Parts: sequence; C-alpha cells; structure tokens
Amino acid sequence: MAQGVLATAARRPLIAGNWKMNMRRSEGLALAHAVADHVCRAGRFPAELAIFPPFTLLADILREVGGSGVAIGGQDCHPAESGAHTGDVSAEMLHDIGCTHVIVGHSERRADHSETDGEVCAKAQAAHRAGLVAVICLGETQAQRDDGRTLEVIRTQLAGSLPGGADAANTVLAYEPVWAIGTGRTPTAAEVQQVHKAIRDALADRTSPETGAAMRILYGGSVKPANASDLLCLADVDGALVGGASLDAESFWAIAEACPWRDAA
Ligand code: PGA
Repeated sequence: MAQGVLATAARRPLIAGNWKMNMRRSEGLALAHAVADHVCRAGRFPAELAIFPPFTLLADILREVGGSGVAIGGQDCHPAESGAHTGDVSAEMLHDIGCTHVIVGHSERRADHSETDGEVCAKAQAAHRAGLVAVICLGETQAQRDDGRTLEVIRTQLAGSLPGGADAANTVLAYEPVWAIGTGRTPTAAEVQQVHKAIRDALADRTSPETGAAMRILYGGSVKPANASDLLCLADVDGALVGGASLDAESFWAIAEACPWRDAA
C-alpha cells in the first residue's frame, strides 16, 4: 500500500514536444524559433517548455535557441557512455552538446526496438549519470486495457523502468496509453486522473512519500489545444508529452497556454 502521498508539493508543469522522426533542418529551425519566440514574449509563465527534435537537428537548434528558456532534449539514449554501438547516441553525448533532457522508454521504442523495462531502466540510469533529466514513458496497449490490466501493466513498467536514485529533480514520468498515441482518442479525464494517482501512489511506495508528491507525471497521447485544459487541470497531471500537435508552433503554444498556474510556478 502507498505510504501516503504528501499533498503539499506544487509541481511546475512541463509541456514537452516529441517531434519523433519529423522535420528537415529548415522546418525544424523555424519551429524551434517560433516556440522560443512565444516563450520569450510570454515572460512569466506557469509551465516549463521542452522540445525533443531528432538527433540530426539537436546541435543546430541548441546553437540557435539554446538559452531561450526552452529546454532541449534527445528522444533516446544508449545505456553505455561510449563504445561499439553503431547508430546509437549516449546520454553523455547529448549532455556534451547542451541537452538537458532525454526521453526513454517511449512506446514506439519499446515496440520498434523491443526495448524491455530493464533496458529502459538502464537508459534512465545513463541519463542520470550524464546529468540529464530522464523522461520515462509508461503506457498500456489497447489489448491490455481491454483485459482490464491497465494499472497492473503500469505498475510493472514503473517497477522495472525506474532506476534507484530517481527523484523529482532528475526524473519525469509520462503516462502514454499506446492506443491514444497519434489516434485522436484519449481516455476520459477521470480515467487519466485514476492512472496518474495510481502511478503516484506506486512511486511513493517505491521511493518516498516526498518523491511521490514531488515528481512530475505528464500525460501523453493525442493532446491537442481542444482537450489540453481538461487534461492539464487534473490534480495528478503535471503537464503533457505532445507528439503530433508539437509539430505546429501555434498548436504547441496553445497547449502550453492551457496550463493552470500552480503555487510554485
Ligand atoms: P501524439 O503523440 O500527441 O501524436 O499522440 C504523443 C507521443 O507519442 O509522445
């Protein structure tokens, strides 16, 4: 049972844009500039913003908009620091060019590259070793949901993917139901809140009540301007991991603007 989650922490929302395998150089730079311009014009803002361009664009985007208030991260990293791993990029390499975050365990990586919870855990550990914030993704498939196994699957993924030493400063969780990604379908607000609360309780059990209360848990899967405020106002939802809608600066910004102010923001 959960030891009880402290209700006192005010978590600053994070709106994260996962560009996936999209954007040629000129489009990506224009998008990054447009997002950075919005952040710059907005001044004080309730949320942090982060973008996750493909590896090919990271260095250029960091050079042009690094330091603008938009955090920049990679979409994956290898567990090792360096070595004979053709085609892979290490967390240290991402940190070296100025990235601050990395997504690990996205369901597309779990499916396309057969990544296991153990590998995801090793990648998150590598992120921490390199000084990056790990955004660890969890989510059930349609079949698992239909079988009524959502909470069991999420708890198992959390147990297997969260490394020792994970805390609210070095880790963000993202609940992304696989069936909601890129489909235009989302769980109801009540279902999202239920899963996020279950993740927070499990997290408190595995770490401490303080970490359970303080770690951010994002929702991802067909977040759009039209549904953002309903999702982002939920008590245990601390931001969004946005795919398709992050490829358009105005949509991404509209989602960010739907973030409510919280005490510590
Ligand atoms: P989507 O993707 O917003 O296009 O559904 C979310 C994600 O995969 O992170």
